[in-house]
Amino acid sequence: MKLPPAARGSTQVFGPLAAEYARFRPSYPDPLFDALAERLAPDPGLALDVGSGTGAALLPLLERGMRVVAVEPNRAMLSRARSGVGDGPGWIGAVAARAEGLPLAPGVAGCVTVAQAFHWFEAEAALAEIARVLRPGGILALVWNVILTDPFTDDVHELIVRHNPGYGRPVTRSMLDTPASLARHPGFVVEPAARFDHQRPMTEDAYVGYAFSWSYCGGALTEEQRPPFERELRRTIRRHHPDGVWVERLTAVAHFATRVAGRSPRVAED
Ligand SMILES: C[S@@+](CC[C@H](N)C(=O)[O-])C[C@H]1O[C@@H](n2cnc3c(N)ncnc32)[C@H](O)[C@@H]1O
Repeated sequence: MKLPPAARGSTQVFGPLAAEYARFRPSYPDPLFDALAERLAPDPGLALDVGSGTGAALLPLLERGMRVVAVEPNRAMLSRARSGVGDGPGWIGAVAARAEGLPLAPGVAGCVTVAQAFHWFEAEAALAEIARVLRPGGILALVWNVILTDPFTDDVHELIVRHNPGYGRPVTRSMLDTPASLARHPGFVVEPAARFDHQRPMTEDAYVGYAFSWSYCGGALTEEQRPPFERELRRTIRRHHPDGVWVERLTAVAHFATRVAGRSPRVAED
């Protein structure tokens, strides 16, 4: 029996999912990147996107005039990120590395983004590295897209748990709160979470592709388990969305943190 991708570990799980990932995952809303840009110094230095995957955060950073480096340990994901950005102005390049060992000099970055990836990192080690490369006054943005639940997503969740009993709660629900490791890190002052609601049109086939891009779904099912899961998923979709088209509602959450030197751990007040 061929093992599912998730058995390969956090940096390898997305390799076999890269095509579905690039095609079917939602992007992040523009107001989130505008809010990030407003917080940056006029000449912020490099922007590092760590755990950049297929590059969902790269174009929004480049479009706002930043000089961007992608950091990603998975080569299949990284090669899609590279082809997505081309070689326009601002693009410095991509580095195959983990967040826990950034091959970059201290203080080179004025901005670090981590989109939908911080939960894969060893949090303390990654934050120590991010604090090292981020200059004082620089901004860290931990970002997640959170699927807003409704009876359809509840049924999909129940279906996934049945096919993948190892799966617990949807990981993204907890991402609306400031990660504890960031809140207690002495090198950052963290703002209250900022939420940016958005939506996108959805179809049955796109949703199936989307589901196969999830580590706990496409990444956790064996070749033999995929067809019965897909049949049931399509039945669930048709029960809730008989027209085959609907609107997916998401909220993107951003935890903005400013790099400070020699401060006690704290979270900023509202
Ligand atoms: C869910 S994807 C997010 C990709 C992209 N940032 C986005 O928003 O679509 C998570 C990414 O984190 C990467 N990753 C996993 N462990 C990592 C680590 N320790 N350091 C850096 N990246 C890691 C994975 O290879 C994957 O590409």
